[in-house]
Amino acid sequence: MKIVIASDHGGITIRQEIISLLKEMNLEYVDLGCDCTASVDYPDYAFPAAQKVVSGEADRGILVCGTGIGMSIAANKVKGIRCALAHDTFSAKATREHNNTNMLALGERVVGPGLARDIVKIWLETPFESGGRHETRVNKIKEIEKQYA
Ligand code: RB5
Repeated sequence: MKIVIASDHGGITIRQEIISLLKEMNLEYVDLGCDCTASVDYPDYAFPAAQKVVSGEADRGILVCGTGIGMSIAANKVKGIRCALAHDTFSAKATREHNNTNMLALGERVVGPGLARDIVKIWLETPFESGGRHETRVNKIKEIEKQYA
């Protein structure tokens, strides 16, 4: 599994923590920054990361900003992206099982590094419950997306 990861200035520390986790898990990753000291705009990082997921260059994407909210809103504007904002392990697991999310957003001002690692690990390791009601629901989301192509 190949991961794309990006953050704005508000998410650098948690992004680095997650990169350490990806290395420990022997997962391939591409890091899109930011390597910024000044304030940057989260859509400038969310969209390139989302593009790598929908193009197939990456299998999953992880985004970090101060709250995770801006990143998740921006990523979910990209057709084919299902980005979950998750700050607990229950939601991280459920959003893989139920929503087949392909991106995860986290807020560095919301969670500490230990919880962020647990959230990411469970989100990466949990499979989608395909072939049943959850797949029917995700397919309905895909049908809605077609109206906005
Ligand atoms: C940056 O100050 C902050 O707005 C950003 O990191 C994020 O929280 C936006 O949703």
